[in-house]
Amino acid sequence: MRHDHLLTANQLTREDIEHVLDRAAEVDANPASFGQRHAGKLLGLCFFEPSTRTKMSFEAAMKRLGGDVVDMGSVDSSSVKKGESLADTVRVVEGYADALVLRHPLMGAAKMASEFVDVPLVNAGDGAGHHPTQTMLDLYTIRENAGLDDLTVGIMGDLKYGRTVHSLATALTNFDASQHFISPDSLKLPRSVRYDLHEAGATVREHTELDPILPQLDVLYVTRIQRERFPDEDEYQRVAGEYQIDTDTLADAKEDLTVMHPLPRVDEIAPEIDDTDHARYFEQAHNGVPVRMALLDLLLEGDS
Ligand code: NCD
Repeated sequence: MRHDHLLTANQLTREDIEHVLDRAAEVDANPASFGQRHAGKLLGLCFFEPSTRTKMSFEAAMKRLGGDVVDMGSVDSSSVKKGESLADTVRVVEGYADALVLRHPLMGAAKMASEFVDVPLVNAGDGAGHHPTQTMLDLYTIRENAGLDDLTVGIMGDLKYGRTVHSLATALTNFDASQHFISPDSLKLPRSVRYDLHEAGATVREHTELDPILPQLDVLYVTRIQRERFPDEDEYQRVAGEYQIDTDTLADAKEDLTVMHPLPRVDEIAPEIDDTDHARYFEQAHNGVPVRMALLDLLLEGDS
């Protein structure tokens, strides 16, 4: 198979995912052998929204492959401030780089931008849409800790606006995983994602409380309420702080429950959980480097 652009998790088959995860495992086992793979190549970073992990791990990944990055910098210091369109920005930056990574506050922005460029474009988050590379590192972390088959996953928090959730839930339909979605009624999965899951033959099990299903879970994926995407602050305040876990919450969990979070966290996971064997979110963030190295390696190698 060949994907020129990585835009949503819908385009990923089980084979694609395993191909990337296997390559990431090779990177993890022998990083030095990838050290000069893409020497002289440049990755263009266009981030129209804040980012710590995604941007820095893409940068680290490209540098660890022997390449380098050219970074548009913040929106405030770029020509976007002068009214340049997204289409023009990516058309210019593609002339400076061998591949592009785009993060944008509007859903569909990556798809739109991809229509204007010939180099591979990777969606690093488009509003409340998708975030497929986060999903790759999520799946890598799940595979390492719980395995990807015969799996029961709980996804909790902001399922409406959380793009990491949309991509992860979609990608998990490729595996033998039963998915439980835990959220307030106002933050349930959007219709479009629900539709994609039904189309893929997955059952959407929804809950407003974690307790009743917690004992069944192998993985609990906790997410931040996406404050910046709420149309009004009152609506955010009504749900803020509703889903928080601490060690008491996890009393009835399986001993080997894996707790994940794409980060940043606000108050969803009490710091006391960090010291338990359940906590895998920092490991998850660190997996961003080998997984993005694998992805870039495949994209730049031209047979991705
Ligand atoms: C997520 C994102 O940007 O969607 N962060 C990330 O990439 N690790 C999650 C979030 O912001 O809550």
